[in-house]
Amino acid sequence: MKALQIMAISGSLRNNSSNTNILKAIAGLAPENVVIHLYEGLDKLPHFNPDVDEKNGYVADFRNKIDSADGVIISTPEYAFGIPGVLKNALDWIVSTGELNEKPAAAISASPLNTGGENALTSLLLTLTALGTIRNKFSSLAIPNIKSKLDASGTIIDNQLAESLNKLLENLLDLIEVKQS
Ligand SMILES: Cc1cc2nc3c(=O)[nH]c(=O)nc-3n(C[C@H](O)[C@H](O)[C@H](O)COP(=O)(O)O)c2cc1C
Repeated sequence: MKALQIMAISGSLRNNSSNTNILKAIAGLAPENVVIHLYEGLDKLPHFNPDVDEKNGYVADFRNKIDSADGVIISTPEYAFGIPGVLKNALDWIVSTGELNEKPAAAISASPLNTGGENALTSLLLTLTALGTIRNKFSSLAIPNIKSKLDASGTIIDNQLAESLNKLLENLLDLIEVKQS
């Protein structure tokens, strides 16, 4: 049986980013028939311009990777009550080409504050709705106080968080299965 391909996108470009570490942790939770690829080109994408038809290079690669994935997981920090510009820029490149249309998706925000980055999550979910993703009420998670849930190397040390991430992944896999059945 062909392995399911999930594309994981972190909204943070930081080294040792908690959001990137969350996605790596989810990759570690994936069952044998699921491969989770961490997208690493967010900082290479040019500024979005609807006048420009980017058929090659990083934009084409980003679009192709999303297109060939069975589902996507995005984990983002909150910057000034919104999602980071680099993440919105990437998502703007696929509005007209529609690679996320009818694609199962999961969304996470993680913050050192006890709000869990809920403004960023709300904003991300609105954009994912505009892009036509398939989600349900179990497809999103705001993670507060993230610094206390990861150790210095970025490993999850909070069992409840590990369980929540597992449930989010299981739900995404269920959505993919329903779509493909
Ligand atoms: C410019 C800037 C603005 C920020 N604004 C917010 C904010 O509005 N809400 C929030 O919860 N955290 C805010 N933070 C803190 C980030 O949530 C924190 O840096 C987080 O760890 C970033 O995620 P990362 O570890 O994945 O890079 C901000 C950080 C920066 C650098």
